[in-house]
Amino acid sequence: MHAVDEHSIHSPFFFDFYEKVIRPKSFTGLPEVETVRTNLLASTQQIDMVDLGAASPHFQSQQRSLSKIAATSASPKALCELFMRLASHIQAKAIVELGTSVGLTTLYLANQPNSHVTTFEGNKALIQVALTHLEYFNKKNVKILAGNIDQTLPDFIQNPAKIDFALMDANHRYTPTLRYFELLAKRIHTKGVIVMDDIYYSPEMEKAWTEIKRHPLVYGSVDLFRCGLLFFDPALNRQHYVWSI
Ligand SMILES: C[S@@+](CC[C@H](N)C(=O)[O-])C[C@H]1O[C@@H](n2cnc3c(N)ncnc32)[C@H](O)[C@@H]1O
Repeated sequence: MHAVDEHSIHSPFFFDFYEKVIRPKSFTGLPEVETVRTNLLASTQQIDMVDLGAASPHFQSQQRSLSKIAATSASPKALCELFMRLASHIQAKAIVELGTSVGLTTLYLANQPNSHVTTFEGNKALIQVALTHLEYFNKKNVKILAGNIDQTLPDFIQNPAKIDFALMDANHRYTPTLRYFELLAKRIHTKGVIVMDDIYYSPEMEKAWTEIKRHPLVYGSVDLFRCGLLFFDPALNRQHYVWSI
């Protein structure tokens, strides 16, 4: 493990990555998308939940309000901005998101010019909410793949096209996390990045992160505590950083 701040980053690639992706903070986000978030946070609409992954500690019942989902499942604005800067830095064209939820992060990812976002979600009620947002913003570069990722991801990976950026933010259990990573790793571009969200959410997620970092195809990683970034370029020489955001 190396480094806590930019002064001890010796790799030019990671120094540049830190300066362009991690260090900048805009604080405004995408204001029009943040207006949607604000509205969701006030919404009393109830959503039927389906148990597709690790149950969230925030939810005990079968129905949740949209406000609670927006507050606890959707990535916060600062993280959405970081993902958007990352997609821009690597000029991602083919973007994958596992776990759409209400589609807020999807909108940030879809902001990347000339990109195509494929986002996976198993909860039909949430898909309807996300679709409403995509229609409202007239986002034609997003496709929602409905269904359990256990089935939809292996089908999707049959397509040999490369993936530039993937965000793993769906099933937070050890075995599915490793399985989804193996599938995505088959198609990730050498210069691509896979982001694993919630790496310290539970002991099993921490175990999955520790093992994935050591995967033979992973040539670099950054532990941001909230999420982990994985790099696949052999030129990076297996460098592993821990940075705070
Ligand atoms: C943490 S939320 C995603 C948040 C979203 N990426 C964001 O940043 O706003 C996880 C989502 O993954 C979905 N999910 C979990 N396991 C799944 C599975 N096996 N198949 C399909 N969807 C799944 C859940 O329904 C939930 O909406």
